[in-house]
Amino acid sequence: MIPKSKIDEIVNIARVEEVVGDYVTLKKRGATMIGLCPFHNEKTPSFNVSPVKGIYKCFGCGKAGNAVNFIMEVEHLNYIQSLKHLAEKYNIEWPEQQATSEEIEAEKERSNNRESLQIINNFAEHYFADILENDEEGRTVGLSYFEERGFRPETIKKFKLGFSKESWDHFATTAIKNGFNIELLKKSGLIKESEQGKIFDAYRGRVMFTIHSLSGKPIAFAGRFLKKDPKSPKYVNSPETDLYHKSNELYGLYFAKQAISKIGYVYLVEGYTDVISLHQSGIENVVASSGTSLTENQIKLIKRFSDNVCVLYDGDAAGIKASLRGIDMLLEGGLNVKVVSFPEGEDPDSYAQKLGAVEFGLYLEENKKDFILFKTSLLIEDAGNDPVKRAQLIREIVESIAKVPDAIKRSGFIKESAKILKADEQLLINETNKILRTKNTQPKNNIAEVAVEKDYREELKEILDLQLHDHQERDIVRLIIEHGNKNMEGYKNAAHYILHELHEHDIEIDHPVIAEIINEVAIQLEQNDLNIQHFVNHTNNLITTFIATIMSNQHEVSPNWEKKYDIIMDEQGANYLADIESAITRLKLKHIEKSILQNQEDFNKAITDDDVETLQKIHKHLTDERQHLTHKIGTVIIK
Ligand code: CTP
Ligand code: MN
Repeated sequence: MIPKSKIDEIVNIARVEEVVGDYVTLKKRGATMIGLCPFHNEKTPSFNVSPVKGIYKCFGCGKAGNAVNFIMEVEHLNYIQSLKHLAEKYNIEWPEQQATSEEIEAEKERSNNRESLQIINNFAEHYFADILENDEEGRTVGLSYFEERGFRPETIKKFKLGFSKESWDHFATTAIKNGFNIELLKKSGLIKESEQGKIFDAYRGRVMFTIHSLSGKPIAFAGRFLKKDPKSPKYVNSPETDLYHKSNELYGLYFAKQAISKIGYVYLVEGYTDVISLHQSGIENVVASSGTSLTENQIKLIKRFSDNVCVLYDGDAAGIKASLRGIDMLLEGGLNVKVVSFPEGEDPDSYAQKLGAVEFGLYLEENKKDFILFKTSLLIEDAGNDPVKRAQLIREIVESIAKVPDAIKRSGFIKESAKILKADEQLLINETNKILRTKNTQPKNNIAEVAVEKDYREELKEILDLQLHDHQERDIVRLIIEHGNKNMEGYKNAAHYILHELHEHDIEIDHPVIAEIINEVAIQLEQNDLNIQHFVNHTNNLITTFIATIMSNQHEVSPNWEKKYDIIMDEQGANYLADIESAITRLKLKHIEKSILQNQEDFNKAITDDDVETLQKIHKHLTDERQHLTHKIGTVIIK
């Protein structure tokens, strides 16, 4: 549990315009700020931020909320995770749970280590880029290599490509001169020590790729050797450090995450150069697994941003065969997997360079195949008519199908694979079920268990559900937010009157979240303190997004909402009484209609004559009331 006081602290310090400003370029327009929406594609800005109210709202796609909600959506985090994210941004201490003093010490040390390593890496990133750009050797060897590969200057800058000189210790001496500690430099993997105790650079004579964290910080490096030398490895990569765990990172994700969210799927490639070339071709939703097979954590990371992956591995169909097992892991993670293969001898990098941006984009679109069907066609070529091989093939396909967690998708795959295989569908169903049965008796792996934790998608669904909930109940909240503090004769204020009416007529609110809001308003009224901001910054994420939507919808008429706001308020001022009257009457009407239905049901079940008579009386009373209310609504509307 995170204490409420901590949540308040974070929510109060986090300025919505600053938080959004990290992702969106905002321009001031009157009292609000406006920019291009990060949640959908648009050319003219309809994304509004109101620093005064502490909320954002997009008039294009309808997304709305406060700073915490924004981080949830843009970083695909759940509520607590995004609070933590904000705590980090604003250097607010995050409460760790009941750690022992040793654990606290160890964490402090790790945290110090991480900070120091980060400073070293920042320095190194800058150093390697500077050598590439300004050093004689860097330019003639490193820069010309990248240029030969077709990387443009802006691409080189964007990905912070660099060069490490051939010299034994040029980096080491520069770093030490700049005050960096030798032990930490060794830990970072940037320098090494020989058995004779001599310090030397780890990446001598290599072009440098920087590996960035999800927030764009340099956390590791990879140096590519320029010659073909069987004795030297093609790449030297940073070791595992407190800052960098290879199995938790995907190369390029920092540069890809916005595009992935917008486009709705991610391209998965093998190498650094593939990522960079695709970016140059205008394809930005791309990440690399960096050669090794995917880990569970990497798959979870992908899932945070999208459920759809398209795998672009080196080489032709035969080349992909080696990766089939790895791709199965993506299925197991619940992802929808497609693949594109390339002509023999080509990889995404070479082929993108060869075809050019437009052609390459078309090639991908036209050659995307569903993975399971692709695998089926691929293996069927090998098997031919050999019955033993065919049986083996069916087993392999069924293995893949059984990995798909969604039953409906599974049965779709079975149908289509059976067609391709010219096999009996029932046979495939039986085989799949066999595998599923043995799987279900084994302990579940971690990926399956993540689903138990409520993820942000579920929360978003609930929010949507709330926003679509029947308008009578939503209107009550809207009126409290808009006019709650205004005068109402005989009552503390308009909110007090609204709640009084609900109470007086026994109107129960159906939606649990709206009911919670009303309940809290009641408590505030008891304390004579109706505080709308409390709901904007509420700990219940559903409430905050809901309130933010309502608060911005007041001005939906025009993107110039803040200006409009004043006008509307002036004109509307006197009308709020009628507004409130009408909304309450409508809610009453809805309530009566429900009662009539309920009464009719009871009537159908009635046994004794007395019962029938009573129920008929009630029916008469209710329908009279209904008529009265309908009439009243008519006059309120006309007024
Ligand atoms: N890789 C590695 N160490 C190696 C070889 C490969 O870490 N010795 C990883 C790198 O992340 C590399 C990826 O595997 O980007 C793919 O390898 P490869 O296709 O050989 O390298 P590319 O980066 O594609 O380089 P190039 O285009 O120059 O062949
Ligand atoms: Mn490659």
